[in-house]
Amino acid sequence: MTRPLGVGLAGLGTVGGGVLALLRANAEIVAARAGRPVVVTAVAARERGRDRGVSLEGLRWFDDPAALAADPAIDVVVEVIGGADGVAHATVQAAIAAGKPVVTANKALLAVHGAALAAAAERAGVPLAFEAAVAGGIPVIKAVREGLAGNRISRVAGILNGTCNYILTVMRERGREFADVLAEAQKLGYAEADPGIDVDGIDAAHKLAILAALAFGRPVAFEAVHVEGIRNVSALDIAFAGTLGYRIKLLGIARRQEGGIEARVHPCMVPEASPLARVDGVFNAVVAECDFAGQVTLEGRGAGAGPTASAVVADLIDIARGRFTPVWGAQSGALSDAASVPMAAHVGAYYLRLMVVDRPGVIADVTAILRDGGVSLESMLQRGRSPGEAVPVVLVTHETRESAMREALARIAALDAVLEEPAVIRIEPA
Ligand SMILES: NC(=O)c1ccc[n+]([C@@H]2O[C@H](COP(=O)([O-])OP(=O)(O)OC[C@H]3O[C@@H](n4cnc5c(N)ncnc54)[C@H](OP(=O)(O)O)[C@@H]3O)[C@@H](O)[C@H]2O)c1
Repeated sequence: MTRPLGVGLAGLGTVGGGVLALLRANAEIVAARAGRPVVVTAVAARERGRDRGVSLEGLRWFDDPAALAADPAIDVVVEVIGGADGVAHATVQAAIAAGKPVVTANKALLAVHGAALAAAAERAGVPLAFEAAVAGGIPVIKAVREGLAGNRISRVAGILNGTCNYILTVMRERGREFADVLAEAQKLGYAEADPGIDVDGIDAAHKLAILAALAFGRPVAFEAVHVEGIRNVSALDIAFAGTLGYRIKLLGIARRQEGGIEARVHPCMVPEASPLARVDGVFNAVVAECDFAGQVTLEGRGAGAGPTASAVVADLIDIARGRFTPVWGAQSGALSDAASVPMAAHVGAYYLRLMVVDRPGVIADVTAILRDGGVSLESMLQRGRSPGEAVPVVLVTHETRESAMREALARIAALDAVLEEPAVIRIEPA
């Protein structure tokens, strides 16, 4: 057998520890599939003395991951530190500059610096692989970039953040509120102490930016992604969604439409029978709509040491075999210059829930505003009566333009009889 592929592992946290464990546990099958042993020879992290549950005996230690990346004895660099900037960015840049292939799980880095890093990797003639960056153990990068490469993809949509999906699932199953479920998820280790990156939709937006670049063959454009998180989703809206035959999911959606590519992350109502509606708990899923393959759905574990290590090692095996695909599926010069479509131009159906004073004429005022704004209603739901008190009223619109909806909502929110900021959730066909 040929000489082992020597891996420098920058980062020894959840993912780094998982990579070490997988390469040891499955050394034989990895070697057979890679055509040579794949062996970690050097590691870098902050705290040398920390017990990581895996032995570091015989491995060279680096305090500085960028120095590890530049070390001539290392064949390939795995960056599993995290963060768009700082040491992770410096490590990947150092590896590329030293002419080494890179594997990273870092979606923030790719979403923000992916275009420049891909150009640098292309100039250096080295692979930059990132299967682990989107949907963890689900081989979605390979599926979209290589498996579906012969298709024109019209839409990709996915549940891309397990923390949000777990919170929304528990809210629905137990009728509990967001803050309460988040606190419990933090105790169980399913949510970070600082949950903003997850619950505000940023992590999903990083992943969507990457998926959209691959699906539509264009440079990664994180700043063009419209982002909303799940903090405003209430148990009441989840219950109404059920009554209407929907589930509420945080989706990342990128769609080809007239004028360019729309990319957005926000809570959605999806029909109960759609493939994404049934993906619960910490699971992730991605649906791609293709002109020749039709609808393709991939589902699995989107995070955790094992699934993420599985994706990192798949990339290492490709590198050992010399399999090499341009970072975004085509060389930089061959990428499309399709424009990004702003959210105001989005067209879709909307769910609105208003808390209104139960008195004659209120609904007529609301529907008049919608009519004046050109927003037509598909259905309306009002539960119970409580004269003079606050009652929820649910309205479902036909397809309408986001800008028209926003204008109408501002006028509705200003009505005396409307007691709270209206709850608005976009409805997705599947
Ligand atoms: N966790 C997942 O399930 C998952 C899934 C998909 C993708 N990812 C991505 O994988 C990457 C790693 O995630 P993780 O969960 O493994 O993170 P983590 O558990 O926080 O581990 C980060 C590692 O980086 C090291 N590190 C941080 N700053 C450093 C510095 N300045 N110099 C040297 N080492 C430094 C830490 O060292 P110490 O241990 O000494 O502190 C730690 O070993 C991130 O980009 C993340 O988004 C994670």
